[in-house]
Amino acid sequence: MIRAARFHGSELDARELRHGASDPPPTAAMLSEWAQNAGLWSRAVRLRWRQLVRMRDSGPVVLLLRDGNAALMVAADPQSNLVQLWDPRGPATQKPVAVDELLLTHAWTGEAILLRADRRQSPEDTPFSLAWLAGIVLGERKALRDIAIASLTISVLTVFPPLIVMSVVNRVLEFRSVSTLVLLSALIVVVTLYETMLTYARRLIVAVVGARLDAQLSLRIFSRLLRLPIDYFERHPAGETMYRTMQVNRVREFLTGKLLTTLLDLITLAVLLPLLFYLNAFLAWIVVACAVAILLIIVAFLRPLRALYLNVTTAETLKSAALGETIFGIRTVKALALEPQRRAVWDERVAQAGRWRLSFQRLSNWPQTLVLPFERMMGLGVILLGAYVAMNDPTGYMVGALFAFMMLSQRVAAPLVGLARLIEDVEEVGAAIGEIGSVVNRPLENHASTSGMRPAIAGAIRFEDVTFTYPGSAMPALEQVSFEIPAGTTLGIVGKSGSGKSTITRLLQGINRDYQGQLKIDGSDLREINLRYLRQSFGVVLQDNFLFRGSIRDNIIAGRPGLTLADAVMAARLAGAEEFIERLPNGFETYIEEGSPNLSGGQKQRLAIARALIQDPRLLILDEATSALDPESEAIVTANLQRIAHGRTMVIVSHRLSTLTTCDNILVLERGRVADIGPHQVLLERCLIYRQLWAQQNRHMNRNVAHAAVAPAPFPR
Ligand SMILES: Nc1ncnc2c1ncn2[C@@H]1O[C@H](COP(=O)(O)OP(=O)(O)OP(=O)(O)O)[C@@H](O)[C@H]1O
Ligand SMILES: [Mg+2]
Repeated sequence: MIRAARFHGSELDARELRHGASDPPPTAAMLSEWAQNAGLWSRAVRLRWRQLVRMRDSGPVVLLLRDGNAALMVAADPQSNLVQLWDPRGPATQKPVAVDELLLTHAWTGEAILLRADRRQSPEDTPFSLAWLAGIVLGERKALRDIAIASLTISVLTVFPPLIVMSVVNRVLEFRSVSTLVLLSALIVVVTLYETMLTYARRLIVAVVGARLDAQLSLRIFSRLLRLPIDYFERHPAGETMYRTMQVNRVREFLTGKLLTTLLDLITLAVLLPLLFYLNAFLAWIVVACAVAILLIIVAFLRPLRALYLNVTTAETLKSAALGETIFGIRTVKALALEPQRRAVWDERVAQAGRWRLSFQRLSNWPQTLVLPFERMMGLGVILLGAYVAMNDPTGYMVGALFAFMMLSQRVAAPLVGLARLIEDVEEVGAAIGEIGSVVNRPLENHASTSGMRPAIAGAIRFEDVTFTYPGSAMPALEQVSFEIPAGTTLGIVGKSGSGKSTITRLLQGINRDYQGQLKIDGSDLREINLRYLRQSFGVVLQDNFLFRGSIRDNIIAGRPGLTLADAVMAARLAGAEEFIERLPNGFETYIEEGSPNLSGGQKQRLAIARALIQDPRLLILDEATSALDPESEAIVTANLQRIAHGRTMVIVSHRLSTLTTCDNILVLERGRVADIGPHQVLLERCLIYRQLWAQQNRHMNRNVAHAAVAPAPFPR
């Protein structure tokens, strides 16, 4: 598999498959997903020999064998009915062997994995726009064709009843022919039956296409959202992002609702309009003129409406942002009794949104009102005019034709008006697409996460003159930071609040990548390492850790395939979490709700440490990870840290210097600059800032001693 990927210029990492030697052989689906994660195009397929020998230009194909191994098909020759196989376990210089059908079917399970370099842009990489949507819709070509055929047939069928009515009026009434009436009635019954069935089928197909489009849109939007850099999420309220991405519902509704029905109606129009002209050109022109008038009215109002609509969406976005903020911060709101303030903010936003919406609707009321007389004209006016024409028609043909015309003009008027209205909706949906685009059309992280090197990471870190300024801030958060730590050692980072400690860990994780200077891990530039791989090699524990809904076990395993309860228990023990987990009623199966209200801060932190440890990362970053622990649990974790540290590089940010005394090196930061670096004892001697921090934190010790000396005995005897 790795060799097949290499053929396409991509490296696969066996560790990412998460597959132990003792596990059953990986399935084709697992293997293909593995390749997809590395940015290749891959499908797991079941093939027959006939299909296999015809695959000539496909590059190597991985064939899964019955004994759990795999072979690589490097060439196929349909003439001689042979394929060239290559044993992946053999040396790279071996020659492929020719195998015929009988031999292969003996050993081969029939499963194969196709691989291709993903050269063409995947749909997920193209920006979200109308063209992109059109691409998705056209992907449903077959269903759309069926819908079109059904609609065309329905349109043709709708022509019959008016024509029949025309005959009834003209012939049956005139000649009193009952047999003709019976015949025509029978015809109408048949036609109606047909129409009913077709309409049912069309609705069904539309529903299926709608559901499919909906799923595709949601999946793609979400996967783009996941690939946005963290910067974006830090800069935009979650409520706003949610509101904007939810606009996709509106787009989908439009695509499968209005747009589709109007387009289908156009088919009806194409069939019926000529017929109208055939029946009576004068009346037909009136209908068309009315439609054009309606169109003009709507177009005239388009521009001012668009401007107002923009205000409506802005106000709605702000409203959602306020809602999201309040819900996410509800604990603080309650704790500080901030309800009145939040309500005031909300009131204001609701009022604003309401105002804009009202003025939008006021304005849009105008075209709707102005259009009405023309709509009536299309229906009733035509009848009146038609009656006048019929009176003056000596042949009497016009009476029947008028009836037919009445019935048909209703069917024509609706699509014409719908078409004009469509423009309005296109505007709204255009705005919705813009909203979604403003979220998902930002530069993605993806390039770095699918390309880049995957060097074996030992954990040596080197900062060379790293300067970094957060976008939008004037002061650099890190300035000319240089230090180096060898693999397998621990680094403590101390410094006042805001001195840049967390920023160093963020740079290491590749969250912020536009720094100046060099940041090297084991000698390779951090920016050249595959981002996903980099983060998977790291374990990160923060001060505030998010636990997902699910059992404790699931949270520790964090959905990584191939890990078991035994791994979770091991990691929990290392993190000092086993003790409290076992006291919980359901142990490792205890269910954690969203936001984990049933766990204390310290318990959460220990779970987070276990979660970071479970995949045995080469590099562990703890950013104030023990800040919520009581002294006793902290002592447990600190004692464990030494064991945890064994064989890996650790970066520990902590305000409590006592946790850091055992670190190999301590980095002292002062306003984004390196003040000093060295072990505890050395720093105590030579670094003033460190000495001050240490003295501050240990003052209580000295004082306690002093207190003890003078404190009266609690029970004087
Ligand atoms: N996402 C961000 N966007 C803009 N500026 C930021 C961001 N995060 C941090 N900063 C700024 O960068 C500087 C360093 O922040 P950093 O979080 O690294 O400090 P810290 O040493 O971890 O502080 P603390 O001990 O309080 O956690 C601060 O002045 C802060 O205002
Ligand atoms: Mg911090």
